[in-house]
Amino acid sequence: MSGYIHLQIVENAEDVARIAAQNLCAQIRERSDAVLGLATGSTPEATYAELVRVHRERRVSFSRVRSVNLDEYQGLDGAHEHSYRYYMQRHLFDHVDMRSWNALLLDGTAVDGEAECRAYEERIRALGGVDLWLLGIGSNGHIAFNEPGSTRDSRTRCVPLTAETIADNSRLFAAPTEVPRRAYTVGIATIMEARRLLLLATGEHKARAVAAALRGEEGPHCPASFLRGHAECTFLIDRQAASLLES
Ligand code: GLP
Repeated sequence: MSGYIHLQIVENAEDVARIAAQNLCAQIRERSDAVLGLATGSTPEATYAELVRVHRERRVSFSRVRSVNLDEYQGLDGAHEHSYRYYMQRHLFDHVDMRSWNALLLDGTAVDGEAECRAYEERIRALGGVDLWLLGIGSNGHIAFNEPGSTRDSRTRCVPLTAETIADNSRLFAAPTEVPRRAYTVGIATIMEARRLLLLATGEHKARAVAAALRGEEGPHCPASFLRGHAECTFLIDRQAASLLES
């Protein structure tokens, strides 16, 4: 059964960032100890920059906010410049009044990976679930690191990355061979339990994935298509990312 996704098409990436930040701030103002789901990648960087700006103007405080991240590369510790923990520190946590103990991220260096994944699900549950989860989308339709083939009932686990994702993400590494081949990711079922979802996509290179997610057949071949089954999901995208959607 397909649900209904709110589709918000704006002019450019700057608008996406501004509106995404407004949504996150509204959530924090509604509940100062909100549980925010956070994403990494190039797309949300501008959103975090906007949140930092709003925080510096003293219009929002993160002092009681809790956060949960989507994924982490296997084998990278939090001090590694390509780890997602490092990314979060650099783009958000180091610049706002968030308490370090309130930020939950998967540990890419966990000795017992299965225990790490189980504990992560339990910790999210103990937080009372996620109020608003920010998402990106991979050019192959992945969400977090739920690659094509991931099922609707998938949970936090360690997965191999596809060649397409390794190639896409290699732009951030010195060489494609340095991109970890595996990553920890929350599952699709984990994401679907959040009360609200906000997926951001900008640029023409995301148009095919956005069209498949919104208009293609729903199923594991395009993990983002499962979001249609969520009651409160918004795709906030720019014109370029919307370019393959028929009006
Ligand atoms: C990575 C992340 C995803 C992210 C995707 C898109 O693979 N695991 O969570 O949504 O890339 O990233 P970008 O915004 O850089 O295109």
